[in-house]
Amino acid sequence: MSTRQRTVKLAYSAWPTGRHASAWRLPEAFNGGTVDPVYLADTVRTAERGLFDYYFMGNAISSTPTAVGNWHNDVFKLEGFTLAAYAAAISRHIGLVVTVNTTYAGPYDSARALVSLDHLSQGRAGLNIVTGADGVDGPARNYGQARHAVREDRYGRAEEFIGIVHGLSESWEDGYFVDDREKGTLFDLSRSHPLEFEGKFYSVGGALNLPRPPQGRIPIVHAGGSEKSFHYGARHADIRFSPFVSTEWNRDYYRRIKGLLPQYGRDPDDQFIIPGITFYVAGTDAEARRKFKEVQDLVVGEYAPMQVGALLGLDLSRVPRDERIVDAFTEETFRQHPWLGTALAAFGDESVTLHDLFHYISNRGHLNQPPVVGSGPRVARWIAENFEARAFDGVKLFPAYARTPLDAFVDLVVPELQRLGIYRRSYDTSTLRGHLGLAVPPSPHAARAPALTA
Ligand SMILES: Cc1cc2nc3c(=O)[nH]c(=O)nc-3n(C[C@H](O)[C@H](O)[C@H](O)COP(=O)(O)O)c2cc1C
Repeated sequence: MSTRQRTVKLAYSAWPTGRHASAWRLPEAFNGGTVDPVYLADTVRTAERGLFDYYFMGNAISSTPTAVGNWHNDVFKLEGFTLAAYAAAISRHIGLVVTVNTTYAGPYDSARALVSLDHLSQGRAGLNIVTGADGVDGPARNYGQARHAVREDRYGRAEEFIGIVHGLSESWEDGYFVDDREKGTLFDLSRSHPLEFEGKFYSVGGALNLPRPPQGRIPIVHAGGSEKSFHYGARHADIRFSPFVSTEWNRDYYRRIKGLLPQYGRDPDDQFIIPGITFYVAGTDAEARRKFKEVQDLVVGEYAPMQVGALLGLDLSRVPRDERIVDAFTEETFRQHPWLGTALAAFGDESVTLHDLFHYISNRGHLNQPPVVGSGPRVARWIAENFEARAFDGVKLFPAYARTPLDAFVDLVVPELQRLGIYRRSYDTSTLRGHLGLAVPPSPHAARAPALTA
């Protein structure tokens, strides 16, 4: 086990019109942020003001204008490396994690973009590897394929992909830069190590046309829900991006995921488990709950007892929609479905009706990423308790809407986490590896012959 002090990790997920299906309908929501450089810069700077470990750029490689429901926030997505390069130029410390779907992206181009980003940001790049969910064929058609690859092949590709990316990043050994003006030697070309890779999915021959990145090995983030994903992450990921269901569920998940690392020769403390969570934070609990309820009431769609009933295995067709859930359901139902308790906690009192519950479940994500609602001290305590219980190592903010949730978190929660002594008071490193407390690994070629200039 590592001896370094464990501190909360914080990240912000760029979600320009917010994560909630309907919160964008709030009068104060700013909905023009998708491609607005001023707004995006503002979020990068605010996350950096909050001393966050990283700014996270999720990915979508196809548009969903005809998607069922209300997911306006899924229609548009800036290309991640482009956004990250922009973010790098206007920030100094915060890590910049870009998502790549390895089922479609080529490893050479990805390595080149990633290593470029690490140089331009002076060691702040991170790579989130996803393989794309089963049954989602939209992206495939953008890449000349009829349908999405099966899991076995997706992870086969991902495995080769990461080996190539790391191998290409190490194409040039330290000491390659000679700059001997007298002898006329700028680079020591003998210090290049072209990759010769032949796999089932990829074949790459040659060196990357960039020096080793400042971080040596760029931190890897990974998300997925399958056993394949769990083992892939145990082998390669520095951060696992996870769901958050409940403290108990996540403690088990945490133990199980970290328990896989030793079989790959890794220390469990070298991987961080970080769920994405939506916070409603305000000056007081009552104010935060009012905002949460206001957002719920903006959900579009007619109350559907079938939808609520299906989740609980109950026939609710005869129960009035304004019945309180504490009256409609037995204690046994609450016990069987712990998310009901989480929903009650988010609303903050027992007046929650079936209609409210319908609004709650209508927002994709509430079930496996329930919101946390309250004042700064309450939210900070919630984070501290789950952090100390080892339900997670930190959280990634999913803003419900733009732009106040990020500001509220930075202004009201961050100082409380600092007061609790579990969060940094200033950046004391300037790379993503540094923020995570991970050392720069030696170059695999470092032990070779002395440099030309020696
Ligand atoms: C918590 C979580 C977050 C995810 N975030 C993204 C994302 O931002 N972009 C994306 O393309 N896929 C995302 N995914 C999808 C997964 O990365 C993965 O592609 C999908 O779950 C299929 O892998 P699996 O078969 O191992 O579950 C996420 C999955 C999980 C569980």
